[in-house]
Amino acid sequence: METFKLVLPEHLNHYGFLFGGNMLKWVDEAAYIAATIEFPGCNFVTVGMDKVEFRKSICQGSIVRLHAQQSSLGRTSVTYLVEVHARELQKSNEDIVFSTHITFVCVDNCGKKVAIAERQNSVCPIRSMLQGPPQ
Ligand SMILES: CC(C)(COP(=O)(O)OP(=O)(O)OC[C@H]1O[C@@H](n2cnc3c(N)ncnc32)[C@H](O)[C@@H]1OP(=O)(O)O)[C@@H](O)C(=O)NCCC(=O)NCCS
Repeated sequence: METFKLVLPEHLNHYGFLFGGNMLKWVDEAAYIAATIEFPGCNFVTVGMDKVEFRKSICQGSIVRLHAQQSSLGRTSVTYLVEVHARELQKSNEDIVFSTHITFVCVDNCGKKVAIAERQNSVCPIRSMLQGPPQ
């Protein structure tokens, strides 16, 4: 799944580049959306993120592309590889600027972990209505 973001002034640190905390929020959000779409009926919380290393700064006006792909599936958890690419204003090529693995755990209404397979079989009727009929 792919999500795009535009780097605006409110996303910058005091040096004028993308603030790392915003990048991590976008990574968490992109992978969460992918997991939620891929496993209807599951409520996910983030349990962990692997290596966090910012090797390239990102300028205002850049278009950031986040690509989230499932990399492993456990009993209660699912892990996504998120790769972040950035394209600077008026440049045609994009660079990979960040990547990490992020893991979510499926929880019940009390916040206790629950098997993903168990929740997938109990899709909330309101959620199914919002998602529309199967294609
Ligand atoms: C997530 C939470 C429900 C896990 O509960 P728990 O009983 O401690 O769970 P466990 O340690 O048994 O781990 C559950 C699963 O997560 C995996 N896991 C635990 N810690 C992990 C980590 N750091 N990285 C990757 N996977 C991890 C386990 O391998 C297990 O996977 P599996 O069932 O697919 O084999 C609990 O820790 C929690 O509520 N955390 C707060 C979540 C939150 O608020 N997130 C927002 C960030 S502030």
